[in-house]
Amino acid sequence: MNENNNDKIFPKHFFWGASTAGHQVDGGSVDQWTVWELAHAKELAQTAHQRLSSIPTWRDFKNKAENPDNYVSGRGVEHRKRYREDFDIIKELNLNAFRFGIEWSRIEPEEGKWSDEAIQYYREYIAELRRRNIEPMANLWHWTMPTWFTDKGGFAKRSNIEYFERFVQKVAEELTEDLTYAITLNEPNVYTTLSYAIGEWPPQDKSVVRSLQVYFNLVSAHKRAYKILKDHKPTLQIGLAAQLANIQAKRPHNLIDTITTKWMRYYWNWWFLNRCRNQQDFVGINYYFSDYYRGFRRSNPKVPLSDLGWYMEPEGLYPLLLRTWSHYKKPIFVTENGVADSRDEYRRWWLEETIVAMEKAISEGVDLRGYLHWSLLDNFEWKYGWWPEFGLVAVDRSHGMKRKIRPSAKWFAQRVRHINRV
Ligand code: BGC
Repeated sequence: MNENNNDKIFPKHFFWGASTAGHQVDGGSVDQWTVWELAHAKELAQTAHQRLSSIPTWRDFKNKAENPDNYVSGRGVEHRKRYREDFDIIKELNLNAFRFGIEWSRIEPEEGKWSDEAIQYYREYIAELRRRNIEPMANLWHWTMPTWFTDKGGFAKRSNIEYFERFVQKVAEELTEDLTYAITLNEPNVYTTLSYAIGEWPPQDKSVVRSLQVYFNLVSAHKRAYKILKDHKPTLQIGLAAQLANIQAKRPHNLIDTITTKWMRYYWNWWFLNRCRNQQDFVGINYYFSDYYRGFRRSNPKVPLSDLGWYMEPEGLYPLLLRTWSHYKKPIFVTENGVADSRDEYRRWWLEETIVAMEKAISEGVDLRGYLHWSLLDNFEWKYGWWPEFGLVAVDRSHGMKRKIRPSAKWFAQRVRHINRV
């Protein structure tokens, strides 16, 4: 790659960073996912072969996937204890932004009872980022919720949104003073699909009708959260982190392929964002894959595949950025992007292609403000558990949670330094 060619393209104050979510790294979480994991770990281990053995890397992760411990988030990667050390690593990687979760279940562990300890913890956490000149981007909902809230029906019940509003109000009052960026919700489309439409995730309430109800309720939750945060701090920049795919027709001249593509783009990518168009200061994109449609079915190329068996097309970020920009004309952040790659075979290539995709988009006028890689650390990958490794930094959970910067991350750090220098 020509290191000198396009380096001036990134704006001066571009944010280069990484992303995490509380439940996936913190350790000691108590929320509806923790309860579900413990109840289902054994069953997930027993059904692993049947569910996962078609993934080409099955042999590499078989032992982990067939062990019930894999499915328990437990001590996480002890980020909660070791966040200062992790922030030092962010600095070492030449990054200047970090996305993290504020866990509702920690702030309000019992209905109406606020934890001063948790609020103080997050204040200190944000202050430690600021001390290192790392821009904090706080995310208020990454699928996890206090159990008292999900016991009441969670977001499936419209009247429950007021509990979320109360939480957001508390965060606005206690934690936004040192924040410039906040995200209300992470990937409502993934949550409603997996927790309701398909019913694989808690609460496993398999119902298309319910998934639509939750989807509509999350639109309201976002709008109300936006208003609360804005009223409290008008300068706060607020967005959503949307899971957007680069959806393409397999046969561009085939009528059915193009109709399916249009529908999927609308339903998966734009439906939620369109409804919240006026309540967004920026658009957050979580990009992981291109999806090609042949007829009504997804038909992706067979290679290259990540450890999760996902088809990898990092350059698909470019057309996606163009489309998102032309739809909304708002500043864009890539709020997540990365690859499950335990051998660190593809991550550097992925990053190189992604940087080129962003350069091309910026050169065509897309107002891209930052890139936050998923993830800083290896973390708990929801229903898959611990075996998929997304970290720029590997974590050895069997040996004192030791952190080790991967070679691809070292390359990334050099690349960022070079871009920032020119
Ligand atoms: C989620 C993350 C998850 C990542 C990789 C995103 O959709 O926001 O929580 O770890 O994908 O699957």
